[in-house]
Amino acid sequence: MAVILDGKSLAQKIKDQLKQEVEEYIKKGLRKPALAVILVGNDPASEVYVRNKRESCSYVGINSLFFHLSEDTTQEELLELIGKLNGDEDVDGILVQLPLPSHISTSEIIDAINPKKDVDGFHPINIGKLATGQDDGIIPCTPLGIWIMLKHYKIDILKKDVVIVGASNIVGKPMSLLFLKNEDSTVTICHRNTKDLAKHTKNAEILIVAVGKPNLITADMVKEGVVVIDVGINRLENGKLVGDTDFENIKEKASAITPVPGGVGPMTVASLLINTISIYRQKMGFSKHPLTEV
Ligand code: GUN
Repeated sequence: MAVILDGKSLAQKIKDQLKQEVEEYIKKGLRKPALAVILVGNDPASEVYVRNKRESCSYVGINSLFFHLSEDTTQEELLELIGKLNGDEDVDGILVQLPLPSHISTSEIIDAINPKKDVDGFHPINIGKLATGQDDGIIPCTPLGIWIMLKHYKIDILKKDVVIVGASNIVGKPMSLLFLKNEDSTVTICHRNTKDLAKHTKNAEILIVAVGKPNLITADMVKEGVVVIDVGINRLENGKLVGDTDFENIKEKASAITPVPGGVGPMTVASLLINTISIYRQKMGFSKHPLTEV
C-alpha cells in the first residue's frame, strides 16, 4: 500500500509557519506583504481558485488586492492595470488568473508583468533563469509545491527515472527544468500526442501527471513502487472531484501517491504564498525565502 502524500496537511503547516513569519515582520514595524490578484471574466473554476488563493493570503496576513474585471475587458485595459501595479511600490506580487478570454493574448500579458513581481513564475525571464540554473528567479507554484512535498516526504530523487505527462508552461515544462537542475534525474516529457504513453509511464520511478483527463493513467501503466504525483483536477458529471490517475487501483502498486483533492492543489496555493513572501523579503532587504531554495 502506498504512502498517501498529504498535501493538505503539509500546506496547512506551511501556512501556519508563514503566518507566524508575517506577524514577526509586522512586529518589526514593516507593512504587510501584498499580492494583486486579477481575474478577467466569470469562469466558475477560476472564481473558486481565486477565492481559495485570497482566503489563504488573508489567513497568513498577506494583503490581497482583488481586481475582478469583466469578460469584455480589452487587452489594452489589462495592460494598463498591470503597468500601474508594476509601478506600485506597495505591491509585491501580481497574479493574473489563467485562462484569459480568447481576445486577450496570454503571452503578451505575462510578458508585461515585472519579472520581479511575477509570483506565478511564468515570465520568460523566470523560466529562463530556471532553465539556466540561476537561483534568483521565481519558480512556478505547482512545480515548487511538488518539490517541497517530495522533500518533506524524503522521496529520493537522485538518479531517478522521472516521467512527466503533460508539457504545459504552467506545470510540465517548469517541473522538468526543476528536476534537470537538481539531482541527476533522467526526465522524459510526454504529452497528449505521445504515441505509446504506457511504454514511457511503465518506466517511471517518479510519475507526474498534469493533463486534465480522468483515468488517463491506470494501474497497468505503472510499475511496482512508483511515486505518483497527480496534478489533475477534474469534476465528473456526478460532481466528484478526481485527478488524472486511477487512484484506488494505483495505490495498491505505488510506494507513494497524492490524493485528489488534498494533494498537489493545496501545495500550489502554499507556494503562491511562499513566492509572495519571498519577493517581499527581498524588497525589505532580507534573503529570499528558504522554502524557495531548490
Ligand atoms: N490557472 C491554472 N493554474 C494557474 C496558476 O497556477 N496560476 C495562474 N495565474 N492561473 C492558473
